[in-house]
Amino acid sequence: MRKVLVLGHKGMLGTDLCARLRPHYQLFEADIDELDITDHRATQRFIRDISPSEVVNCVGYTNVDGAENAAHIAYEVNAEGAKNAAQAADAVGARYIYIGTDFVFDGTKGASYQESDPTNPLCVYARSKLVGELYTREYSERHLIVRTAWLFGVHGKNFVEAILRQAKVGDLRVVDDQVGSPTFAVDLSEGLARLLASDETGTFHCTNSGCCSWFEFAKGILEAAGILDVKVSRLSSEELGRAAARPAYSPLDNEKLNREIGFKMPTWRDALARYMKAREVLREQE
Ligand SMILES: NC(=O)c1ccc[n+]([C@@H]2O[C@H](COP(=O)([O-])OP(=O)(O)OC[C@H]3O[C@@H](n4cnc5c(N)ncnc54)[C@H](OP(=O)(O)O)[C@@H]3O)[C@@H](O)[C@H]2O)c1
Repeated sequence: MRKVLVLGHKGMLGTDLCARLRPHYQLFEADIDELDITDHRATQRFIRDISPSEVVNCVGYTNVDGAENAAHIAYEVNAEGAKNAAQAADAVGARYIYIGTDFVFDGTKGASYQESDPTNPLCVYARSKLVGELYTREYSERHLIVRTAWLFGVHGKNFVEAILRQAKVGDLRVVDDQVGSPTFAVDLSEGLARLLASDETGTFHCTNSGCCSWFEFAKGILEAAGILDVKVSRLSSEELGRAAARPAYSPLDNEKLNREIGFKMPTWRDALARYMKAREVLREQE
């Protein structure tokens, strides 16, 4: 059985990915309590001792607005940590998988982004993630960079839960001038599992198919939850005034994933319906 190491296994993506991989691999899991990937030596030692055939890096400093005033932490985790893990994976001949973001694009293309499109990140978080990509290419001979977007999973804080929470209090105002592809962590995990099972390397986009604005996503969430008495109105990014700039239009084109490994990601609406069921199951278990 192949050995796979998942870094950041307690995070939103890491938890779903480990559940997907556990039956098929000898799975090793680490989060910050076991290994801080910003520690170069510890990362080298940890990965050398396991000597896996793949290292999947689900670690992230993911506070997009917080990163504007904490650039050093964002770079330390998303870039230097990624470099440490890439170097350590390379030293044992492992394939290294880095999770990237649609935010590396500036959103001005006017169409969905392909893997080869030029990047131009607009905020600190996005720049730190782009450096993570560059380090991955530079320090790991066999790597995958899998860019995703607008993640929601039952094991983390996410937009779906934020909307459901706010809907209990009253009507909502949601940004309507940013368009992207919401992505269920379970579906991204499936895409990652298929890529792991293949011998692909290089950069791939993997999001749920279809796209929407945050406003449309919020309406979809309330519909999926059967909440019909809460009004959602449109807000502009300028009115919201978040610290970090985000791309206005950043859906990712999944065509390469489809073509190379024959996997078509479900639509975000289908994913949302399954998310609602999964959160019910989780609540019943708690
Ligand atoms: N969330 C999104 O919408 C989105 C979109 C596109 C791409 N991505 C990328 O997808 C990946 C997974 O995102 P996610 O939302 O699942 O993130 P997440 O829920 O924040 O999980 C990240 C995990 O990494 C851990 N971690 C943080 N710093 C660490 C360090 N120095 N060493 C080891 N572990 C550390 C975190 O621990 P603590 O919780 O204790 O800090 C957490 O368990 C990230 O690379 C992110 O940039 C996310």
